[in-house]
Amino acid sequence: MSYLDIMFFKKSKNNKIDINNLPNHIAIIMDGNGRWAKKRGLPRSAGHKAGAKTLEKITRYAGNLGIRNLTVYAFSTENWKRPQQEVDALMELLGEYLDNYKKLIGDDNIRIRIIGTKVGLSDEILDKINVVESATAKNDGLTLYIALNYGGREELVNSVKKIAKKICDGELIVDEIDEGVVSDNLYTTGCPEPDLLIRVSGERRLSNFLMWQSAYSELWFDDVNWPDFSTKDLNRAIADYQKRNRRFGGV
Ligand code: IPE
Ligand code: IPE
Ligand code: MG
Repeated sequence: MSYLDIMFFKKSKNNKIDINNLPNHIAIIMDGNGRWAKKRGLPRSAGHKAGAKTLEKITRYAGNLGIRNLTVYAFSTENWKRPQQEVDALMELLGEYLDNYKKLIGDDNIRIRIIGTKVGLSDEILDKINVVESATAKNDGLTLYIALNYGGREELVNSVKKIAKKICDGELIVDEIDEGVVSDNLYTTGCPEPDLLIRVSGERRLSNFLMWQSAYSELWFDDVNWPDFSTKDLNRAIADYQKRNRRFGGV
């Protein structure tokens, strides 16, 4: 064995995944598309295109590995602040993704759900969302949650409004409100909380992503920009997750 072989062996050994102890839900903040493009002298939209390719690759890999739930942050409620041209390019890309999801993901058994507010999305995108969600509703492989026009604070405000309405309508009384009721009125109803939350591109913040749901998620930060994120990088995150001791406040 050469020195390089030994180093590779050591590395792959360290990143070995225990297939019986996979995180049930992985959430990813797909960040750094713009910086990836800038480094190459390309427009930001080229970074988003490259990022969409990474999403296809990672979704397929996670599904084959046996991950049950994958949530990806595609567009935040704050991303509308970006130049109109970039917002338009992102919406176009999302539309293309929804149109071609089958070909892109290459797996007929993936269930796709979109989480976030519908307010502000075009009728065209809303139609595509309906089509994809109903076409994949009965699939029982990986569930891919795409956080689109999603913000954790907006989601919580929306949940409070829904609960208040139920109280006004006599469906609920104030004393019945507990954590379960709040959870059930979020966009992620029925979805388990993320076990592992990954942010790439060197940033170390949540940026309004799954703030309620990630209360006890294990966090993993990677410096690589999203278009360069590889299946090896995902393995590294999972392997590290598997070494952690989750206490949930206990001992
Ligand atoms: C992530 O990449 C994609 C979205 C937020 C839509 P960015 O566009 O944020 O890329 P950076 O962070 O500016 O490099
Ligand atoms: C978070 O990335 C949103 C998405 C990845 C969709 P941002 O690039 O918008 O976050 P900030 O502005 O760096 O916090
Ligand atoms: Mg960013």
